[in-house]
Amino acid sequence: MADNGKLAFERFAAPAKGVLVMFCEEGLKFGPAARSALGPTGNLVQRAAAADRFTGKSGTSLDIVAPAGLQAARLTILGIGKAGKLKPQDLVKLGGTAMGKVPARAQTVTIFAEFAGGPLKPDQIAEVALGTQLRAYSFDRYKTKRKEGEEAPVKAEITIAVSNVAGAQRAWERSREPVAQGVVMARDLINEPANVLFPEEFARRASALKKLGVAVEVLDTKAMTKLGMNALLGVGQGSRKDSRVVIMRWNGGRRADAPVAFIGKGVCFDTGGISIKPASGMEDMKGDMAGAACVVGLMHALAARKAKVNAVGAIGLVENMPDGNAQRPGDIVKTMNGQTIEIINTDAEGRLVLADVLHYVNTRHKPKFMIDLATLTGAIIVALGQEYAGMFSNDDQLCDRLTKAGTATMERVWRMPLGPEYDKQIDSKFADMKNTGGRFGGSITAAQLLARFVDKTPWVHLDIAGTALGSPQNDINKSWSSGWGVRLLNRLVEDHYER
Ligand code: BES
Ligand code: MN
Ligand code: ZN
Repeated sequence: MADNGKLAFERFAAPAKGVLVMFCEEGLKFGPAARSALGPTGNLVQRAAAADRFTGKSGTSLDIVAPAGLQAARLTILGIGKAGKLKPQDLVKLGGTAMGKVPARAQTVTIFAEFAGGPLKPDQIAEVALGTQLRAYSFDRYKTKRKEGEEAPVKAEITIAVSNVAGAQRAWERSREPVAQGVVMARDLINEPANVLFPEEFARRASALKKLGVAVEVLDTKAMTKLGMNALLGVGQGSRKDSRVVIMRWNGGRRADAPVAFIGKGVCFDTGGISIKPASGMEDMKGDMAGAACVVGLMHALAARKAKVNAVGAIGLVENMPDGNAQRPGDIVKTMNGQTIEIINTDAEGRLVLADVLHYVNTRHKPKFMIDLATLTGAIIVALGQEYAGMFSNDDQLCDRLTKAGTATMERVWRMPLGPEYDKQIDSKFADMKNTGGRFGGSITAAQLLARFVDKTPWVHLDIAGTALGSPQNDINKSWSSGWGVRLLNRLVEDHYER
């Protein structure tokens, strides 16, 4: 796991060194702990603010280097506008923004968790802390050299100054540190190149969840052949690397309760197969396992915070390669549930993998609902861009809950249509269906195929091709991979499915 630097909580006090970050409300209003820690330096802050016309408006900041009267090397004041106008979801962002103001060379950072009205509550502090950790993430394990004069990135030690240390520590450890770790785990898996992270290795890393009390079961080629998962196996047959399915179970709920289920597309590399992709940008297809990475990160978060829920995570791991043994256009495969699919384009492989895993989870675990995540189509990026994931579903209530969890975490979803009218696009001359439906509504016809493998179970498909990879950089992510979905689904479970 990437080392994001240490995080500690301490009582409000002016630090002896490093960067000091304080929040300030419109009208240059500080909280009592900040005023007391600043002491006479308060005058300096007023003068600097006047000189810079800084008033504490949201999105503005004031930087004072070597502030007289303080031991800190740098004082950074972050304007937050009016605290009353902040929404809960703004707190994570605030933590990220605070970290963003810290120079790369800084070794220690102290953030005063206080608004003008007084100290933040433990749950609020945990959100701010989460933001600092996500912002501090970087993936540089393969960088062995630096340019002249460039220093190795220092992972700053972060201290959050609070009034109730034990309360903040508890809130962090019980509810948000597990989530931070889950997101980091997902980002790491996605950033990892495909020569390192192939199906078997991915399965090994998912197996590490056993340490947290997660039951992990790995299906190898032999087991999958026996089960009849021929759609999934067909995708992987052109690769030198064996395919795997991993099933993770966390039982934190009541014994008799049906589990909630999360399913991830884990194409460790997608060349397109015989329908090979163009060279330009193909390297991004190391991230075609982002759905599976999210499921692993989520299962980590649920287990590490001992969530009171029964959850199943299942991931289909394959590599889609062109080869003498690769699947051909025109081939017909029989899925685990007996339906046949004609392969028109070997690059529409994700739906083939998911078809078998969805059916397996549905019949084996009889879940309350299934949510799958997949970097499934380029078409969803055309439709929604990179800020919303596409949501396809047979269940309005689940959609409603996800939409709300999306607003709360800023991992947002936008519902897209499904309907029998689209089915004719995937009618096949030779089999029950074909694996592509032409150019029109490409994300919808993909979802339409998945729907044939879920039966009556409430189900949501999230097409995360736009949100998971090459993410627009924001306050809480500077990495190519966002780890999208871990916070969203953790939130869904928190809000509705814990006893
Ligand atoms: N993994 C891709 C989708 C993708 C594209 C993810 C860009 C992330 C960024 C998927 O397997 C794929 O190749 N889909 C095809 C489907 C087509 C052949 C029907 C696509 O979107 O072009
Ligand atoms: Mn593909
Ligand atoms: Zn793919």
